[in-house]
Amino acid sequence: MNGPAACAAVPVAGAEIALTAPAGTNTLPASLNLFPPAMNYTLNVNGRTQTVEAEPDTPMLWVLRDHLNYTGVKYGCGVDVCGACTVHVDGESMRSCQIPISEAAGKKFVTIEGLSANGDHPLQKAWCDHDVAQCGYCQAGQIMTAAALLRRTPKPTDADIDKSMSDNLCRCGTYTRIRAAIHTAAAEMAAK
Ligand code: FES
Ligand code: FES
Repeated sequence: MNGPAACAAVPVAGAEIALTAPAGTNTLPASLNLFPPAMNYTLNVNGRTQTVEAEPDTPMLWVLRDHLNYTGVKYGCGVDVCGACTVHVDGESMRSCQIPISEAAGKKFVTIEGLSANGDHPLQKAWCDHDVAQCGYCQAGQIMTAAALLRRTPKPTDADIDKSMSDNLCRCGTYTRIRAAIHTAAAEMAAK
């Protein structure tokens, strides 16, 4: 076809505005490319170096779950509100739904699967002792946030715990047991 290849007529308040692709072009400029190509990224997760092919804006939440099968990382909201996706990045608790894979290189990620060798971190044992979990969906994120808290503050007060844990939501309302379990784990770690 000669002339503009694509042209749509959009009625606006009685007039028509023609949307016309520039002559000789049929692709979007790079700045408008919504689907940048997948690339290979080398990641350090739970002490293992692994390569993942993904689009650069892929959240680490989906990389960890879907590419690497660390399904302890949960999707709750995807918008930095619930904390279900919490992992450790270079020792700090962070929301994996907010970290694109393009920013993950060179950082050390730890998921609940890598928190301890046999599920025997003092927090994991205390969680069992106190029967913290109800449905369980939020609990991996809760434990990862608590583990980062105990690394920063080995003997947290109730106020320290409430401040650190308040952004991790639990629809089952297990907050009282979470607080008790953190105190128990802190006491065990202090006794070692
Ligand atoms: S899924 Fe990341 S904060 Fe909710
Ligand atoms: S235990 Fe069910 S959401 Fe927290």
